[in-house]
Parts: sequence; C-alpha cells; structure tokens
Amino acid sequence: MEIQNQESISAAAKIIVQSRYTIALVGAGLSVGSGIPTFRGAGGLWTKLGEPSNNGYENFLADPKAWWDQNLNAKIDPERTKFREAIEKAKPNPGHLALVDLEKICVLKHQITQNIDNLHYVAGSKKITEIHGNRTKLRCVGCDMRWHRDEFDRITLDWKQTLPPKCNTCFGIVKPDTVMFGEPIPLSTLNTCVDETRLSDCILVIGTSATVYPAAGFPREVLSSGGKIIEINPEETPISQTATESIKGPTEDSLPKLVTEIKRIIGDDPTT
Ligand code: APR
Repeated sequence: MEIQNQESISAAAKIIVQSRYTIALVGAGLSVGSGIPTFRGAGGLWTKLGEPSNNGYENFLADPKAWWDQNLNAKIDPERTKFREAIEKAKPNPGHLALVDLEKICVLKHQITQNIDNLHYVAGSKKITEIHGNRTKLRCVGCDMRWHRDEFDRITLDWKQTLPPKCNTCFGIVKPDTVMFGEPIPLSTLNTCVDETRLSDCILVIGTSATVYPAAGFPREVLSSGGKIIEINPEETPISQTATESIKGPTEDSLPKLVTEIKRIIGDDPTT
C-alpha cells in the first residue's frame, strides 16, 4: 500500500505543479485528525443519529423564537454534545497546515470547505469559502450580514432576552451561520464557489463523501471543462472513478507528504 500511495502522491504532485489554477473541495475527513467525527461512515454523527430531514430551515422560519428558545435552553442529544465538545477543543492537524503551506507557495488558489469548525482559519488559511457556514458566527437571513458570536454579544446586549435576535442593519432575523438542512446556500457564497470552480483546471477533493450538493457537483464541473480531479480519501466515493489520481489514506498523513513532493518538484525546477 505504501509504495502504491507514494506513486499516487508523486503523480498527483506532478499534475498539481503543471496546473494553472488548483482549488480544493474539503470535507469532514480533513478534521478527523483533529478529533472531530465525520457525519457518515464509521462513527459518523448521522450514522449514529440518522441523516436529518430536509425541513430544518423551514421549521426555523416557521417559528424562529421557538427555534432559538429550544436551541438555547433545551438539553441536546448526548451524541451532539460529544460532537460539539470535540469541535470546541479541536486544533488544526497536519492536514490543515499542509493546505496553509500550499496556499503560501501559491499552488493552492482557493479552498471551498464544507466544514463549519473554523479550523482552516485557525491554521492560517486565508482563501477560503465556507459553503456550509461557520459555527463561530451568526448571520442575518435578510441581508447575509455576519458577525462572530462574541462580536454579536457585544453589539446586541441581552439579545437572548428578546428572541429571535434581529439584525441591527436591516432588522432581519438572525440565525447561526451554519447552513441548515433545506436552507439555500447564501447567494454570495454560492457565486464565489461557482466562480472558483470555473477558474479551476485541477480540484483536490479532500476528505468528503462527495454526496451533498451543490458542493459535490463542483468536481464534476471541473472535469466537464477539461480539468483534473485528485481525490484524497481513505475510502472510495461516488467520484473516485472519475478521479485522475486517488491518494488513499488519512489526510493528516497524506497531505503533508503531497506538499513535500510538490515542493521537491518546484524546488528542482525553478521554471515551474
Ligand atoms: N482523512 C481523510 N478523509 C477521511 C478520514 C481521514 N482521516 N477519515 C474519514 N474520511 C473520509 C470518509 O471516507 C468520508 O468520505 O471523510 C469523508 C467524510 O464524509 P462525510 O461524513 O459525509 O462528510 P462530508 O463529506 O464533509 O459531508 C458533507 O454533509 O451533513 C452535511 O453539512 C454536512 O458539510 C457536511 C456535508
């Protein structure tokens, strides 16, 4: 397995160095090395609790006060408590740091992450679009204004006394930034993802089951415009068959090796 993986890493590194605009689509697998469970597969949150229904957002809009009351005060499922505690104490792992490195040497142009755990920013990545939001933020459903939770607490004193919280710009209803099941991806976020995908001739598909749209559609977009897919995942996914290269194994191990190989190639050939 090791030799085969090294060959895949070398082949993938060559493709990336020869590409003009490499982006990444990232999923929960990247944060496994930080102690955060995935959603699907062994030990996944939805594997334990079942996949949520698609009416979460509809329920929120039907009665935002009741939703906030329930979410601020109710006892939550022990599995969700464990998941939240894992995120609270998580730190970036070598996989996150490898992506920071790739961005710094201008090889990785942009990351579209499905992860809400904020670890890309903590690790030091800058060119990020969080397609499913960020758990440390709140967002106005009226004007898409976002605040860090601490900032919102400062500017909207005692907001928990008068639910639902309201936007101080357009008076729209404020919700967690994390995209709920059945909630449309905020338009400006989706437009950035589409623009980056259109620019890309190589997409790294990292630690995602590639089953949730629209994110799962981006690799197919890159492929259909003649670009290449490099998948980095210990398991097979619905796009494995279309990947130009597949690097098997946990990203906390494989991404640092990929970056080392990319740097070796670039270092040997200053014209790249
Ligand atoms: N390194 C890399 N990948 C891993 C690792 C690891 N150490 N461990 C597991 N994986 C892979 C699994 O093989 C799987 O393909 O991570 C993937 C996790 O898949 P999901 O749990 O479905 O997570 P994700 O693809 O991010 O889900 C997409 O679904 O519920 C929504 O909003 C949620 O953003 C999430 C979206």
